[in-house]
Amino acid sequence: MNKTENTTLFSTHKNPYEFNGEAIDYQLVNENIKYDKYFYVESYGCAMNFADSEVVASILEQNGFGGTKNIEIADLILINTCSIREKAELTIRKRLTEFRRLKQANPGLLVGVLGCMAERLKAQLLEEEKLVDLVVGPDAYRTLPDLIADAGTGQKAVNVLLSRDETYGDIAPVRLDNNGISAFVSIMRGCNNMCSFCVVPFTRGRERSRDAFSILAECKDLVEKGYKEVVLLGQNVDSYYWNNPETNTTTTFAMLLEQVAQINPSLRVRFSTSHPKDITDEVLHIIASYDNICKNIHLPVQSGSTRMLQLMNRTYTREWYMAKIDRIRELLPTCSISSDIIAGFCTETEDDHQDTISLMQYANYDLSYMYYYSERPGTLAARRYEDDIDLATKKRRLQEIVDIQWTLSNESNKRDVGGVFEVLIEGNSKRNEAEWMGRSSQNKVVVFPKGDFKNKKGDYVKVKIHNFTKGTLLGDIIL
Ligand code: SAH
Ligand code: SF4
Ligand code: F3S
Repeated sequence: MNKTENTTLFSTHKNPYEFNGEAIDYQLVNENIKYDKYFYVESYGCAMNFADSEVVASILEQNGFGGTKNIEIADLILINTCSIREKAELTIRKRLTEFRRLKQANPGLLVGVLGCMAERLKAQLLEEEKLVDLVVGPDAYRTLPDLIADAGTGQKAVNVLLSRDETYGDIAPVRLDNNGISAFVSIMRGCNNMCSFCVVPFTRGRERSRDAFSILAECKDLVEKGYKEVVLLGQNVDSYYWNNPETNTTTTFAMLLEQVAQINPSLRVRFSTSHPKDITDEVLHIIASYDNICKNIHLPVQSGSTRMLQLMNRTYTREWYMAKIDRIRELLPTCSISSDIIAGFCTETEDDHQDTISLMQYANYDLSYMYYYSERPGTLAARRYEDDIDLATKKRRLQEIVDIQWTLSNESNKRDVGGVFEVLIEGNSKRNEAEWMGRSSQNKVVVFPKGDFKNKKGDYVKVKIHNFTKGTLLGDIIL
């Protein structure tokens, strides 16, 4: 990860955005079956892309492809891409060049670009990247088998049609993350918000919510398979709104959250991302009422200056956002709060930047994902405003907010020392097999010795925190 372009502090939290290819660690879809053809898939960008790759894996498996994590034996390489910042696209262009060697060794190999960059660049991508055979947008994955067949005959295959109703609700995703404890569940697609800096409404299309019954069925199925945590995903989960055509009744996000929480008290429920304008008191009350709904809200502010927020088209002011933070603290005193912040958006002054710093301090974020502004072609900001903050200033301001967040995160971890947290064990600690790694409800990583306790992956344990390192709370099991 490029530290200056895109800085995440304290990896104590599950990161909803930054899948960087290597995050894929998947098993053979079914190691007992011998397939004629194998696909390999890499995901970049946000968790929604990762979840989409799981849908793609399911579609391919039903069409005779096996999954492999060994790129050398793949007949089809898919790269699920992100366009959120220029750097994200450059990373993918570079990765594509690395496939050249594989293509030379295996002339029958097909390379497909999926996701947001496919949608943004469409057929242009085929002209620019000669080794690409398929370009498939986020709403066109059902047509992958036909497109692969076309590409197999030497034609270039493109489908970037966006849909108003595709949710892949009926497709049971193949879980690519083999920890078997936590799973992403997509509850909606697209975004109607039109934040002026953001490319997502163009790459993902109109917002639509998935059938609530299919979401509940997927969560129940995960519980039966031994999963202990679901992360409900959408660009703006709080505007989830599903109308049942048979009964003409609607399900809101608060209702859905409650129904998922009621499936099983030992299933943890997380969700991401909340737009500050849409998170309601009702949702906060539901979070408070259920122990298994995690006390962690990702509430991206983007800027602390009302003038910037207006230019960004975020539809709230600094004061309105602060009141929202107050409300969360009042109703959910143990809740951790994280944010996304953009430094150096068009016309940002030093005063605007100071407003962001003071807002971060007011909100007392446990964690933030921080970026400097990257102009994206076709967005409202690219059309209306000049990208007038020079790179050195953007980087300096980013570094300043990174430093502030470092202090806030450090203080947050310090406050946890001496406290006892319920931790869901996710597996061995990376550094030491004699230690477990898990997460608290607040989404912080906790590492602790296994000792003589006969615990296993997926168990809940109470851990008392005695120390912390940069990204990890350290503790001991207590009974
Ligand atoms: N739907 C989420 C955000 C998804 S994109 C939400 O609204 O909160 C993740 C983050 O990337 C955004 O919150 C924003 O901070 C950042 N981002 C989006 N477009 C950007 C751009 N053009 N330049 C820099 N950062 C950007
Ligand atoms: Fe982008 Fe705004 Fe939609 Fe988030 S809410 S995806 S930042 S347009
Ligand atoms: Fe996600 Fe990147 Fe697309 S953040 S929605 S993969 S542009």
